[in-house]
Amino acid sequence: MKNIINRLGGGAGAAAADGAGENQVTVSSFVCDIVESMLRGVGARAVHAPCTCERGLTYACAIFWLVQKCDENTQEPQDPRYKNIDPKMIEMIENEIVDNSPGISWDDIAGLDFAKSSVQEIVVWPMLRPDLFTGLRGPPKGLLLFGPPGTGKTLIGKTIATESNATFFSISASCLMSKWVGEGERMVRALFAVARVQSPSVIFIDEIDSLLSQRGGEEGEASRRVKTEFLVQMDGVGGVADERMLLVGATNRPQELDEAARRRMVKRLYIPLPDHAARMDLITRLLHKEEHSLTPQDVYDIATEVVGYSGADCKALCAEASLGPMREIRDIRNVTAAGVRPISLQDFKNAIRQVRASVGTQDIDTYIQWNSQYGSFPVDPATAGGRGT
Ligand SMILES: Nc1ncnc2c1ncn2[C@@H]1O[C@H](COP(=O)(O)OP(=O)(O)OP(=O)(O)O)[C@@H](O)[C@H]1O
Ligand SMILES: [Mg+2]
Repeated sequence: MKNIINRLGGGAGAAAADGAGENQVTVSSFVCDIVESMLRGVGARAVHAPCTCERGLTYACAIFWLVQKCDENTQEPQDPRYKNIDPKMIEMIENEIVDNSPGISWDDIAGLDFAKSSVQEIVVWPMLRPDLFTGLRGPPKGLLLFGPPGTGKTLIGKTIATESNATFFSISASCLMSKWVGEGERMVRALFAVARVQSPSVIFIDEIDSLLSQRGGEEGEASRRVKTEFLVQMDGVGGVADERMLLVGATNRPQELDEAARRRMVKRLYIPLPDHAARMDLITRLLHKEEHSLTPQDVYDIATEVVGYSGADCKALCAEASLGPMREIRDIRNVTAAGVRPISLQDFKNAIRQVRASVGTQDIDTYIQWNSQYGSFPVDPATAGGRGT
């Protein structure tokens, strides 16, 4: 504070420190006059105090007040939907949860044609042409992507962000629960308020089961309150015609979802293991930038061999195979990039022995059963385990 007062006096180049005691700093009367006229300008009455430290402090406070007042005046008028919402939380959501550029497009996803076209129909079209999707054609409030781990659910979520032109909010349960311990439910309220104001918007919740698992007796009070707030807010989604909002959840444990949350996710889409064609496509893409000696027939054979592998498993397989040539190098420090041999079919054969499918057939049966009970689209059990061609 003393600094500020000093600067006030010094800045005006006038009678600073004239006749002041050790702890007293006088302020230029010129500066005082300016502050007084500014105060009058915003409707405040000037405060009279002796031209000493006391007066300096008074005016320093007045300047702070003026700066704040100017800030308020230059800020855009606040949206009424932000009533009772902590501005800090709004800022935090805008900075940390709004995901602007995942940069993934539909072409980056191998296979899953049915899932892609369904998501486009449910999410992307209504966001792009709200005038056509009204009334009965109005979009659903919630979409659930479920299926075995590593099949591209998170990938689809990120693609929606790129393709829908909507503000994309990407959150996970852990982020809501940990970062704002004890403030979770206020955070949820703030999240939905920001999403409403920035509509059209998509709220993507990865691993939604951990946020909205069945409400049981043992869970903590805080997480129960967060869940309740979530359910209340989800009910409000789509209530106002010009607020285009969609909730997209992804999970590999759909059976653990709270039934009230399940009801709110109107469309439930099964994301299966990749079929033969998708596995081929994935392996080809992954090898695209690498030196290799595989023919299309080799890739076909590998894809046949790895029935039941998820997309993530295929990626792990290719990564393992790509290490094959490196293992034969004796002196890794002195080898040139050109000295590394291309990846061969044998590398893949070795890798298949090491990288196993991470999803069991029993797990697939559980998903198929859940889908037949709650899913929006039927799946063929013969192809659901990645056996399709
Ligand atoms: N269909 C696919 N096309 C392209 N890559 C895929 C596909 N499926 C999986 N992958 C690869 O596997 C990785 C994991 O995928 P993703 O994170 O989307 O899985 P997930 O379904 O969300 O799994 P989890 O349920 O464990 O969260 C991706 O980074 C991607 O490299
Ligand atoms: Mg995921």
